[in-house]
Amino acid sequence: MIERTLGIIKPDAVRAGNSGKIIDIIEKSGLEIVAMKKISLSKDQAEVFYEVHKDKPFYDSLTKFMSDGKVVPMVIQGDDAIKRYRQIMGATDSSKAEKGTIRNLCGTDIEHNAVHGSDAPETAKDELGFFFCGYELI
Ligand code: CMP
Repeated sequence: MIERTLGIIKPDAVRAGNSGKIIDIIEKSGLEIVAMKKISLSKDQAEVFYEVHKDKPFYDSLTKFMSDGKVVPMVIQGDDAIKRYRQIMGATDSSKAEKGTIRNLCGTDIEHNAVHGSDAPETAKDELGFFFCGYELI
């Protein structure tokens, strides 16, 4: 089934000049990037995006990190896109991510992990709507 998921290239990867490499990995995997932009998130915006983690001990640090530099949100499309993109991202903790995955190649640790990806169809719908408006999602 053709799905869409939200991917984000995080500030650590943008700062390190890894955006092109990450886009290449996504495209070579057969997934299509149908829209993308380079933006800055405010701390407030990052807090709303990661609201589901608001009771976690890492919430403040995570939202500081996500608002400290440019990010590249992407609409990623393809057959079974949510699961396939999560596979090419690798495990959340970059230091444990499988060899050759984006987080293994471009991330550092559990917080500075280069990329984000939606974890389920409902989350993908909400997260895509956070970064992209109607005409961008056609
Ligand atoms: P992401 O896929 O963007 O979803 C939530 C983010 O929280 C996750 O990637 C990590 O960057 C971060 N995160 C998850 N667990 C921890 C943790 N234990 N300590 C610090 N950051 C975390």
